[in-house]
Amino acid sequence: MNKLITALVLWAAASLVFAAGGHGPEKLDANVNLGNKTSLQRGARLFVNYCLSCHSAQYMRYNRMATDLGLSEDVVKANLMFASDKVGDTMTIAMKPEDAEQWFGVAPPDLSVIARSRGADWLYSFLNGFYLDEKRPTGVNNLYFPDTAMPHVLAELQGLQVKHEADAHGDGHGGHGGPVLELESPGKLSPGEYRQATRDLVAFLVYMGEPAKLVRYRIGFWVIAFLLVLLVAAYLMKREYWKDVH
Ligand code: HEC
Repeated sequence: MNKLITALVLWAAASLVFAAGGHGPEKLDANVNLGNKTSLQRGARLFVNYCLSCHSAQYMRYNRMATDLGLSEDVVKANLMFASDKVGDTMTIAMKPEDAEQWFGVAPPDLSVIARSRGADWLYSFLNGFYLDEKRPTGVNNLYFPDTAMPHVLAELQGLQVKHEADAHGDGHGGHGGPVLELESPGKLSPGEYRQATRDLVAFLVYMGEPAKLVRYRIGFWVIAFLLVLLVAAYLMKREYWKDVH
């Protein structure tokens, strides 16, 4: 028993330290607004256009998204469904994990619940954190996910950034002496528009994390129900076995 308690305490302490995180660059503030349906709709559009080719979202159904985002199923079918043709389908992808692993060295993870594990600010920072790095096979690196295997898929929107080490300009924009990213060649969007686009996208990722939570709760309910039934059965059996012992 003592061992168990020690293990639990250690585990709790470890997860606290883990949550506090290492000393990476300071995260940007995602500032998403889940009450803003148009932001979520734009985010959904970006997601199916730029992410769904590599990442699945297997807890998300198109028709559920239609209802939640205030879109008709026809609009979803016409604008958001490239990977499948049934509106009741989940957002899966055609790429096989084995292939993906060969192409990228690591399979792109499912993004249904990514906002829960990484948090909105990290996702927003990540999407704003790509910079040119010729040492990487993808040509880019990421300030918040060093040496990531993911290419900068939004480069056509954002353009390409370069990294300057700690406050190289001496203009104080280096924050706390961390590296700064500067736009070198612009993309289709202005920096402000790109920030808004990635904010929309992150809002959509955060929204996606919620329905998945309901799925897990449903499963949890059945697990508890099963355990209760088992408890009753075990108790009745115990009574039966010990009946004649006294
Ligand atoms: C060309 C394929 C490809 C596309 C398109 C793509 N990704 Fe990725 N993504 C990857 C790969 C590969 C990884 C794994 C990176 C690693 O572990 O180094 C990844 C990792 C990630 C991660 C980090 C997951 C984690 O916590 O480990 C996030 C978040 C992410 N992608 C979001 C997105 C978003 C949002 C989009 C759409 C804008 C997108 N990705 C489009 C290939 C892709």
